[in-house]
Amino acid sequence: NQPLPLSGKKCLITAGPTREAIDPVRFLTNHSTGKMGYALAEEAIKLGAEVTLISGPVNLAPPAKAHVVQVESAAEMYDAVWPFYDDTDIVIGTAAVADYKPKVYHTHKMKKQPGDNVIELERTKDILQELGMKKTHQLIIGFAAETNAVEEYARGKLEKKNADMIVANNVTTAGAGFGTDTNIVTIFKRDGSAINLPMLTKAETAKRILTEAASMLQKD
Ligand code: C5P
Repeated sequence: NQPLPLSGKKCLITAGPTREAIDPVRFLTNHSTGKMGYALAEEAIKLGAEVTLISGPVNLAPPAKAHVVQVESAAEMYDAVWPFYDDTDIVIGTAAVADYKPKVYHTHKMKKQPGDNVIELERTKDILQELGMKKTHQLIIGFAAETNAVEEYARGKLEKKNADMIVANNVTTAGAGFGTDTNIVTIFKRDGSAINLPMLTKAETAKRILTEAASMLQKD
């Protein structure tokens, strides 16, 4: 009986969108459904890993064996990752974290006014980048959802986020990106190499990414 490729490994996965509240009834968000992150959680468990899934609001049932922490905002997701980080072997940031949040949270519902309105936004923290900066033994895997210049942006993210792998997809391509059950990704690695995967289910894409991660951990 061969051990599973990720047995004894701990995996921390962020998934889904975040919600940045404007007032008690309104928020800013994006089209992420959490499918890729949940598929990674499921496959990582199948490959023997212990999985913590930090999830924004999605309509998916998490894998039974995952330890799930539900969050809403980017700030909550940021706070949720740290207690697990030191013990983690593989970090995978699939979450579509909001880049901006409203500068002011209105504690009462904002009333309509005649004419236009402006909501001032401020930057959220880059969770993966901060995890990458504090990396000791962890393998860091980021995602890059782009609409153009996919390779250039993906390679830039390897550096900026101190990541070991960036999984890039062009979200404008049919069969890739938000909400679909399939994905078409390229895995960019720190050594400069790239692996082009064909159109696969998100489950199969997840398995390929994790198998690659397992072999990178073995090389260390
Ligand atoms: O820089 P960009 O947002 O395109 O990077 C995408 C990667 O960074 C994803 O892995 C995403 O989960 C992560 N990210 C993050 N926190 C942010 C923004 C992005 O963890 N605030």
